[in-house]
Amino acid sequence: TGNVTLDVGYVNTASCQSAITYIDGGAGILRYRGYPIEQLAKGSTFLEVSYLLIYGELPTTQQLEEFTGKVQRHTMLQEDLKNLLSAFPRDAHPMSVLSAAVSALGTFYQDSLSITDKDQIELSTIRLLAKLPTIAAYAYKKSEGQPLLYPDNSLGLVENFLRLTFGFPAEKYDVDPVMAKALDQLFILHADHEQNCSASTVRLVGSAHANLFASVSAGIHALSGPLHGGANSAVLDMLGEIQRGDDSVETFMKKVKNKEDGVKLMGFGHRVYKNYDPRAAIVKQTMDELLKKLGVNDPLLDIALQLEEIALKDDYFVERKLYPNVDFYTGLIYKAMGFPTRMFTVLFAIGRLPGWVAQWREMMEDPATKIGRPRQIYIGETERQFVPLDKR
Ligand code: CMC
Repeated sequence: TGNVTLDVGYVNTASCQSAITYIDGGAGILRYRGYPIEQLAKGSTFLEVSYLLIYGELPTTQQLEEFTGKVQRHTMLQEDLKNLLSAFPRDAHPMSVLSAAVSALGTFYQDSLSITDKDQIELSTIRLLAKLPTIAAYAYKKSEGQPLLYPDNSLGLVENFLRLTFGFPAEKYDVDPVMAKALDQLFILHADHEQNCSASTVRLVGSAHANLFASVSAGIHALSGPLHGGANSAVLDMLGEIQRGDDSVETFMKKVKNKEDGVKLMGFGHRVYKNYDPRAAIVKQTMDELLKKLGVNDPLLDIALQLEEIALKDDYFVERKLYPNVDFYTGLIYKAMGFPTRMFTVLFAIGRLPGWVAQWREMMEDPATKIGRPRQIYIGETERQFVPLDKR
């Protein structure tokens, strides 16, 4: 195997050069294109941040208007794509539906599959940004057995998504501006995170010159795993189990520390952050404000706070530098907004989409890009002789 080095999980191996997102895990710093996440979360909007990630600069008023207009024009889905969605079983996991539908975009929109034609890449970018929230809302409606609505393009992206999700035909749906603002901010916080598992998946698939829809569809599958985006729903399941009395907070923490049955404190720990995840700090503050404004008093929050308090003082977590990550508190916000647990990771996917697109485009434009092809250290049998079936 020559000079191949083993790096399981790519802990020490950089797969690319990137100018999109900067993380200093020790200091708990996250910046998109140089802008601190705290400033973007406070002063920006999700579409503006999407623009920043994809094109490299914050948009001017005119650029943002044009970009918003383009995204608004593409929110509808082909009717046949809706038929595809309705063919899935009602209890299908919405992440599977989401990924399948994004994959299917490659069949409905064959005029934007090129990986070299700039106009086509732009068109597939806009189509994805515009259609993913519609697909996500339809996956929800389908799972609830409720009728679908058409997008209302006088609304912004988040408002439209909330109406498509929670509205009913022939009924006026008033978007709660507090909820819309909070969701928009959560999308900003999730928008990119450099070479995480799903972004690396998008890059790896794209490095074989697969189109943007195919690459993003693969990224959605990577995100669905409970060690990645799936953690946000796994946190709620964990809190629910403790609430039901399967374990007390103390016995649960004992199990985690003894690594019984592989139990982990979900929403804790991170490959890169060895400090408080800066996104989690913002999420916690937003959660406090939102729950107060919505008048929600969730007993699961008390359990989460207790778990965090114990963990931040306990040697097991301190020695391993395990802190709450972005997923620890987001679920409580989504729940307060009325989303069922199985939709949480779908919300993460809507937020992460501009990051995937930006990573894919950066890779395609980089002349140094090569097909992603990790090596291995072979540990199997040395050469041996074939034995015919009747002699074994
Ligand atoms: N609960 C208990 N122990 C943990 C946890 C946890 N959540 N996370 C890490 N550890 C332990 C781990 O067992 C190991 O212990 P030891 O040194 O005794 O073997 C040590 O801490 C180092 O962890 P690791 O598994 O080597 O770290 P990693 O970088 O490979 O994994 C992680 C990172 C995020 C997958 C992991 O921390 C984890 O599984 N966390 C829970 C799932 C989660 O919240 N995921 C969301 C990540 S953030 C957003 C996103 O990516 O979607």
